[in-house]
This record gives sequence, C-alpha cells and structure tokens, in this order.
Amino acid sequence: MNRKTNASASPARRVFIKSYGCQMNVYDSVRMADVLTAEGFQETDSPSEADLVILNTCHIREKAAEKVYSELGRLRKIKAERKANGRETLVAVAGCVAQAEGDEIVRRAPVVDMVFGPQSYHRLPDFVSRAEAGESVVDTEFPAEDKFDHLPLQMPKGARGQRRASAFLTVQEGCDKFCTFCVVPYTRGAEFSRPVTKIVDEARRLVAGGVSEITLLGQNVNAYHGEGPDGREWCLARLIEAVAGIGGIKRLRYTTSHPRDMDDTLIAAHRDIETLMPYLHLPVQSGSDRVLKAMNRGHGRNRYLEIIEDVRAARPDLALSSDFIVGFPGESDEDFEDTLDLVRRVRYAQAFSFKYSARPGTPAADAGDQVPEAVKAERLQRLQVLLRDQQAAFADGLVGQTLPVLFEKPGKLTGQIVGRSPYLQPVQVMAPENLMGAIMPVTITEAGPNSLFGHLTDPPDNTVKALTVGEAMVSA
Ligand code: SAH
Ligand code: SF4
Ligand code: F3S
Repeated sequence: MNRKTNASASPARRVFIKSYGCQMNVYDSVRMADVLTAEGFQETDSPSEADLVILNTCHIREKAAEKVYSELGRLRKIKAERKANGRETLVAVAGCVAQAEGDEIVRRAPVVDMVFGPQSYHRLPDFVSRAEAGESVVDTEFPAEDKFDHLPLQMPKGARGQRRASAFLTVQEGCDKFCTFCVVPYTRGAEFSRPVTKIVDEARRLVAGGVSEITLLGQNVNAYHGEGPDGREWCLARLIEAVAGIGGIKRLRYTTSHPRDMDDTLIAAHRDIETLMPYLHLPVQSGSDRVLKAMNRGHGRNRYLEIIEDVRAARPDLALSSDFIVGFPGESDEDFEDTLDLVRRVRYAQAFSFKYSARPGTPAADAGDQVPEAVKAERLQRLQVLLRDQQAAFADGLVGQTLPVLFEKPGKLTGQIVGRSPYLQPVQVMAPENLMGAIMPVTITEAGPNSLFGHLTDPPDNTVKALTVGEAMVSA
C-alpha cells in the first residue's frame, strides 16, 4: 500500500484539494495533503496547474452535495484544456458525497477518475497509481484497518507550507445516534474514538511546529471514549486535561458536541481548565419537544436549557453557539414558536440555521408531512433575524473591552492582520505581521456584522493604529 507511485519520481507534480462541509473535512484534506506530500506532490491553489484535483465533498444538505457537480463541470473544461497541452489531470471525489453515491458519481460525471470515502484516503497512493494506469477507482468500503494508523504524521505546516497558528485534530469520528434527518451515520460510519496517546502525540507535534491552538474534532466529540494510557476508557474531559498539559499549548477548543453527552465532568472542565476557551457549540436543532422527539435527538428542550444553565454557572463568560433546522417534517407554527422562544431564553453569540433538506435514505425524508418550501423560507428568515440580532448584541457588548487575540493570517488590507477572540470571532487589527501566531491583548473599538475591529492595547510602536469599520469598507 505504501509503494511509491510514479508521482514520486517527479517532484513537480501538483495537487489541488478543495474542502466542502464541516471542520472534519478540512482536517481530512490536511491529512490527504500529508499523504501526497510524502509521495512527492506539492500543493497548489490553482486547479488548472494541478495534475491531481481532489474535491473533498459534503452530503449534509442537497445544496452542498449538488455543488460538487457544478465544480466537476468546470473541471471537465480544465482537464480538456490541459489535455490539449499534453498534460494529464486526475480528478478525485472524496468525502461524504463519495461515500453516499459511490460509482453513481462516475456515471453522472465521467470526468471523475477516483471516488473514495472518508475512511479510505490513507490508500491514496495506491488509488493514484491505479488511476494513472487507466483504472476507474471506486472505494467506499469501511476498511477493517484504522486509517489513522496508516497516515503519515500530521505536519505542523498549513497548505503550501506556511506556519499555522491553529489546527484541527480529529479525536472521534462517525456517529451512532441516527437523528432522523441526518446522513452522517451512513457517510462516516459507526462512532470510533482514537486512543489518548496517539492524540496527545499528534498534539505535541503540532505545538512543537508552532501551533498555539488546537480544536479537538468529532461528529459527536463529547461522546469520546478512547483508550487511555492506563488501558481504561477516557472521557473527553480527561482527554482535554491531558492535551492541556502539553507545554506550549495556549488554547483548546472542541466541536461538535451533542447535548446528550454533555456530562458534568465536561462542564466542570470549562471551570477548571484555563486553556479551554469559553465557547461552546451545542446544536439543539429545534426548541419543540415534539420535533426533538421526531428527530430522535434523545433529549427535550428543558434538558437543553438545564445544560446551558450549568455551563454558564461553570464559566460565566461562555459564548454559546448552535445549529437549527427549520421546516422539519410535521413542524407546526407552534413548534417553530417554541424554537424562537428557546433562542430568546438562551441568547446565542453565534448560530447556524438551515432549512430542512430531505436526504435520500434517512427516515425523515419519507415522512408524509413535509413542510412547504415557502413556509421553510419564511421561518428561516424570522429565525435568522433573531439570531443576527443576538450575535450583534453579543459583539456590541465587547466594544471597549480588552480581549486576548490569537493572530492567524494577514487581513485584506495592507498592514492588517486577523486573529480570533476567545469567542471565535475574527478580530481585524492594524499590526505587524511578525505577530502571527502570538496572542496579544487587543482593545475592541468596533463591532461589524462578521468581525470585531480593534487596536493592540500595547502597540509595539506608534505606527500601529486602530482600524475602524469605515476604513475597512472604503478600502475593501
Ligand atoms: N453532530 C452534530 C451535527 C452534525 S451536522 C449534532 O448532532 O449536532 C451539522 C448540522 O447540519 C446539524 O447540526 C444540522 O443543523 C444540519 N443538518 C444536518 N442534516 C440536515 C438536513 N437534512 N437538513 C438541514 N440541515 C441539516
Ligand atoms: Fe447527525 Fe445526529 Fe449524528 Fe449529529 S448526532 S451527526 S445530527 S445523526
Ligand atoms: Fe458534510 Fe460529511 Fe461533514 S456530510 S458535514 S462533510 S461529516
């Protein structure tokens, strides 16, 4: 399996990888890049320069899945143009659409040479050499071996070699919860937790390479129950404690959590572990007990509100975020009002909301009482107005405060760099580039719709000044 492909003979071979969907797909793309780098590939951000194009796809909603086909249409042209210049291009569809649709993708889009799911990308070198030999590769098995054992070590460098301040680390994958609307249990398979030692080693290497912040990932990350060094099952709180103990790690986050697995030890970790950031993404989907039951979420609205109360008691400055689905089959006006009511009670700092999208093969897709599109659209609009107001209120409340900001990348404007607040908001600051990767106190001066703006509280020299929303708009 680790045999070298022809690719490794020519160091100039290039790969373009595009991620759709959740953070786990972003992590998987980084790992695919690692596999291919070890085979002599270099990453490029231009598909027309690429000898290999990988679309790492998402199947969660119809729109996400359909995006792939429009991208494949564009790639068909690029492949033909390159061919006219004597250059071959391999096209791969990876990720959750690949897992769900398999060889149907090749039938619909013959431009595709390889289709493989999220559990088999460690076999990429083998897939590439088979595709180069003219085979149409389709691999959507859930292999018996653990892909993590067959991947090269995660490199602490980002795409195209730049240092990363923040990195994702998958600790748990798959889902056994089978919410009636969701494809994830089918595309990612059964819940699986990586052993503690492997995770801590990967985290240590990331930190040694300059990473300051790690986000532990899982579809249900708080269902984590990996094997600890003592041979026992460890919960997420213990894992967080172990990772927090690595010297040099400055910030820890975890996502996505399920309310059912939000236990007291994890809540206590928000009080006790200083590096654990005061932010919790805890999707609720609906505020109606009836809908939550039909969704098979395994908890009611009161339990959710109780958890919120408990985490806020543990960490009073905690910012909350959630996911919502409107127009789930059978959702009445009253059910939807219950969702609005829950949102008003919780007061979110951030949220994602979606119209229910019927996904083939999931139980809710066959329900007889589908909600008309116009009703879904109207509900989404009302919910989003409320959530936007709450997000703005939260951000406005930070103006005048000094927040520690982890600087991650250059901003849009010359001289500007962008970092993240503890609450995950982008913060735009005029500051020297050498602060990338550092955490600095920033005085927040303005709150825009998607970012905060501010200036270094202790500027290294007097050329640094505050960037206001007005300036950003003029120059953007
Ligand atoms: N494991 C997480 C969610 C993963 S999917 C959890 O249980 O909360 C990310 C989000 O996509 C979900 O929270 C849900 O809001 C949304 N989603 C999933 N399936 C969907 C569907 N069929 N239609 C619309 N939104 C959906
Ligand atoms: Fe999907 Fe539910 Fe599993 Fe989340 S818990 S991934 S929504 S099935
Ligand atoms: Fe999408 Fe798969 Fe993630 S369906 S949301 S990429 S687990």
